[in-house]
Amino acid sequence: MNGAQTVANADAYWRRYYAERFRFGLATEDILAVLMQIPPIDSWADLGSGSESMLWAIALRACRFVAVDADPQRLEILRQFAARGRPRGVHATALRLCGRTDSNAFEMRCRSLSAVVRADCLAQSLPADPHLIPGSFELITQFGLLGLCRDAEHFTTSFTHLHFLLTPGGWTAGANWVARDSRGRVELTEQLYRNAATRAGVNLLLLKKITSADPDFPAVWIYLGQTRRTPLCPPPPNLHRRVS
Ligand SMILES: C[S@@+](CC[C@H](N)C(=O)[O-])C[C@H]1O[C@@H](n2cnc3c(N)ncnc32)[C@H](O)[C@@H]1O
Repeated sequence: MNGAQTVANADAYWRRYYAERFRFGLATEDILAVLMQIPPIDSWADLGSGSESMLWAIALRACRFVAVDADPQRLEILRQFAARGRPRGVHATALRLCGRTDSNAFEMRCRSLSAVVRADCLAQSLPADPHLIPGSFELITQFGLLGLCRDAEHFTTSFTHLHFLLTPGGWTAGANWVARDSRGRVELTEQLYRNAATRAGVNLLLLKKITSADPDFPAVWIYLGQTRRTPLCPPPPNLHRRVS
C-alpha cells in the first residue's frame, strides 16, 4: 500500500472516532457543514473511505455511492454497518446537525451503498474495476487519505489521478488532518492544495485550515471544489482501463 500508515487499525479507529458520542471540536461538524453545500447528486465515490462513509453520507444527498479503501477489514465493517442501517450515537447527532429529520434518512443513505472496492488509491493509477469508471462520478470525497501521501509530488499526482473519476463539472470535497508527528507524511499547505487543484483542473471554492482539539491531529484542512466543465486533458488511455 502506498503512503503513510493510518493512525489506528480498523476496529480501534472505528471505536475512537465513530462510536456512540459525537466528539465536537475535532472538525467533524465543520466538515459536515461544508458537505451540506453540495447539491443532490447521483453518484459519489468515497476514496480511503475506511468504515466511516455513512457519517459523511448524512450531510450529502447521493443516490448511490461506492466506497474505496485499501483495507478489506474497514470495508467489511462499513458493509455490515450499512446492511444493518441503524445509526450509532455519532450518526444520530450528525442527523440532527444536518437537519435530516425524516425517519428513514439514515436507512436511505445506508441503502445507497452500491459497492465496496478494495484498491490502492495512492498508487500511480486506480486499478481497472467496473465500479471505478473514469468520468462516471458527480462527486468524489476523501477524508484523511491524501494526508497519508509521502511528499508534495505524491500528493499532487494522487490528487490528479483520483479526479479523473469525476464528470466535467463534478464536485470534490475532502479533509486532511495535520499530524503532530508528521514523519513520513506530506506537509499540508495552502500552496500544495492550490497547485494540486490547478493540475487536476479543479476550481477550489473553499479551502481552509481549522484547529482541532485532537492532540495527535491539531489542525485540519478542508476543501470543496468543482472540476472545470471541459477537462484540462483526458486521462491517458492506459489509466483506468474499462473492464468489460
Ligand atoms: C485516516 S483514515 C480515514 C478514514 C475515513 N475516510 C474517515 O473519514 O475517517 C485513512 C483511510 O485511508 C485508507 N488508506 C490508507 N492508504 C490507502 C491507500 N493507499 N489506498 C486506499 N486507501 C488507503 C485507510 O485504510 C483508512 O481507511
